[in-house]
Amino acid sequence: MSYYVTTPIYYVNAEPHLGHAYSTIAADILARHMRQRSEDVFFLTGTDEHGEPVAQAAQKLGIEPRELVDRNAPKFEELLPQINVSNDFFIRTSDPEHEAKVQEIVQIVHDNGYVYEGVYEGWYCPRCADFKSELELGPGQTCPIHKIPLEREREENWFFRLSAFQDQLERLYAERPDFVRPQARYNEALSFIRGGLEDVSLSRPKLTWGVRLPWDRRQVMYVWFDALLNYVTALSYAGGGEDLTDRFWPALHIIGKDILKFHAVYWPAFLMAAGYEVPKGMFIHGYLLMEGHKMSKSLGNVLDPFEVIERFGADALRYYCFREVSFGQDGSVSPTGFEARYDSELANEYGNLASRTLAMIDRFRDGRVPAAEPDPELAGGGDGLARVDAAVCGLLDRAELTQALDEIWKRVRRLNRYVEETRPWDLAKDDEEAGRLDQVLYSLAEGLRVTTLLLLAYMPEIGDRMLDALGAEDRAIAAFGSHGGGQRIEKLPPLFPKIEAAAV
Ligand code: MSP
Repeated sequence: MSYYVTTPIYYVNAEPHLGHAYSTIAADILARHMRQRSEDVFFLTGTDEHGEPVAQAAQKLGIEPRELVDRNAPKFEELLPQINVSNDFFIRTSDPEHEAKVQEIVQIVHDNGYVYEGVYEGWYCPRCADFKSELELGPGQTCPIHKIPLEREREENWFFRLSAFQDQLERLYAERPDFVRPQARYNEALSFIRGGLEDVSLSRPKLTWGVRLPWDRRQVMYVWFDALLNYVTALSYAGGGEDLTDRFWPALHIIGKDILKFHAVYWPAFLMAAGYEVPKGMFIHGYLLMEGHKMSKSLGNVLDPFEVIERFGADALRYYCFREVSFGQDGSVSPTGFEARYDSELANEYGNLASRTLAMIDRFRDGRVPAAEPDPELAGGGDGLARVDAAVCGLLDRAELTQALDEIWKRVRRLNRYVEETRPWDLAKDDEEAGRLDQVLYSLAEGLRVTTLLLLAYMPEIGDRMLDALGAEDRAIAAFGSHGGGQRIEKLPPLFPKIEAAAV
């Protein structure tokens, strides 16, 4: 089966921060997990380079937009290997192939009769690149997100007939209750639709930095349609000579809550207008907060992912973000929070389980995992190892990243308790307990293998090191007891060494 997952494409007018890394890591975890299930995966991320925010930022610096985007896009791309992200392609909306495909698709929408010329007047936020309805306005005609005064704009432009899709969108939502998740976001999008859809601008006459409309070259396409289309255009040229559209479309979109309306309302309607299938679905995450506020460049309260990685490692960062903040909701992150989870969970729980399991196999069984039967004691019960693979797969099918991690972590804790309960060091003193010791050591190694296979998508570097040390070659998700044992293990230096105190 094919599995296509995307991130939002990032505005290049600012530096990447942890809030951006968050959407990307989420999509990466899903992509990696699905590859472990032998799905045919395509994972896309990239940069949103047109439109007013970029044009304004370039103007402030006194340079051409092209120069600004060429300077900043690499910063987003360079972040990816540093956070262990395994994207298959990186799209830039200034790619000529993207621009050509956008023109082709918007021409279809035009020819299908969903475009007309008109006059627009309304309150516009240049930072959101969005017109705000009266209902959305903050006090004194300000942007509710950026808190800046809005501009009253009046312009002649082309409109997309969003209102024509009122019934079709309502039907889509009725037929596909999981089209938008979590449920609260589905409700929010549906009530926006039920509130009555108005046509939206498809083009901007005042801008020059963007994709020209093929039938009116004086106007550039409204940046949001240009940007949304990346999810489709990328497939037409990411595969070199091969067009990947039929193989991978439709996609699952991972996005933040601030861009719900564009993805959950405009985007499916636009696809319908162009004759494309609507997305497979979308998962909307919340914000990472610092001291109670959205982390954002304009508020100046960002955690620099590069610094965090240097101190804690990329895998620890990946783990922390999805453990600390329930995926789908807002939640606070902080350097002290990082440190606490790093010490108590990664080093003391998982790291300790790993090192003592390997050490005991080394010491009591000459470095070879005994071939034995899995201990039913460890397999059973609510936090038993028996069905953890199925439980986690079921949750990740629904992009429930935090709940899936909770399930895995319950088993890590269960395994540590099992060591305390079975006391292998005592069993080793009694020859008559040799069979029991075999079973305990096998069960520990097998439990560690199965949980690590599930953690691998979250912590790919650490997981690989652990599985190599366990002599487990296969990376496919596996059930507890499916490996017969008998393999050699190697000891490992600590997976999560003590961190140096530093000012982050
Ligand atoms: N360019 C548009 C998206 C176009 S997609 C077709 C955009 N870019 S953005 O760079 O401003 O934001 C990209 C994503 O980063 C959004 O999903 C946004 O929610 C996410 N985050 C930015 N700051 C964030 C946090 N502090 N926390 C979590 N994610 C947030 O919007």
